[in-house]
Amino acid sequence: MMKNFVSLTELSADEIWTVLNKAIELKTEWKNGGNKPILKGKVLALVFQKPSLRTRVSFDVGMLHLGGHGLYLSPNEIGLGGRESVPDVARVLSGYVDGIMARTFSHDHIVQLAEYASVPVINGLSDFNHPCQAMGDFLTILEHKGSLDGVNLTYVGDGNNVARSLMFTAAKLGVDFTIATPEGYEIEPEYVAMAQQFAAESGATLRFLHDPIKAVTGADVIYTDVWTSMGQEAETQKRLAIFPPYQVNEKLVSHAKDDVIVMHCLPAHRGEEITDAVADGPHSVLFPQAANRLHAQKGILALLMA
Ligand code: CP
Ligand code: NVA
Repeated sequence: MMKNFVSLTELSADEIWTVLNKAIELKTEWKNGGNKPILKGKVLALVFQKPSLRTRVSFDVGMLHLGGHGLYLSPNEIGLGGRESVPDVARVLSGYVDGIMARTFSHDHIVQLAEYASVPVINGLSDFNHPCQAMGDFLTILEHKGSLDGVNLTYVGDGNNVARSLMFTAAKLGVDFTIATPEGYEIEPEYVAMAQQFAAESGATLRFLHDPIKAVTGADVIYTDVWTSMGQEAETQKRLAIFPPYQVNEKLVSHAKDDVIVMHCLPAHRGEEITDAVADGPHSVLFPQAANRLHAQKGILALLMA
């Protein structure tokens, strides 16, 4: 089994299914009265260079449910790569804690943490990807659709970290994936090529479009995310002018299947990439999706740290 959880590109379909199945097992156990303390006495460092609600709280609570403890370290505390080099932080933390969850700007910082730490490292979002999010998302799709067989997952918006993780996971698991982005905001060709290789093995079909209506036609799942990710704030105005045709509103959703579910990793900029009517409407699974971060990550923690 994997030592770290850094990128879906490094995991086999079997390993991804092992995470999802462990998450389902622990969610059922938790609903039936609570989890066994399989991480009793263990500590997970929560290293954040960016803000967070879901990732911070779900990892902290997840550790608590499994009998362990989360230790929050804010952007100001460690100065990852500034006050102290990333390899040194990795080696120092390895002397104190049993696992490191990190949210960084540069993905290379996560890779370096994993290289130099002797304890497992979990990627809690980097500019490249957001693999824990993808695990919570596929758990949510499984719960709402009953299976991943024949599911058409369509992402509308920016070809960002969340979009890349969804594409890689879909490609590995044989789920058909479509993305509609504005021109200039596509997922990079090198990552598309990687995903195409995974898809060739799994049988998934990947489509890369610019037309949001064409993209969502026949979709079982519509997924969107903010137009401006953390770290891109200087581009906010430019993006606000380009992205409105990609808004997930009732009109766009009407082109998908009648039983389509609408997903968003959150936080949402309501009125921009998603309207209130959709976010709070009958197709929305936004809050069960957010809740599933807890269960998906308990699966990851159990597999890496128990
Ligand atoms: N979706 C997600 O990762 O949310 P936070 O940024 O609040 O952790
Ligand atoms: N793409 C967003 C996701 C936030 C969870 C960002 O990186 O800001």
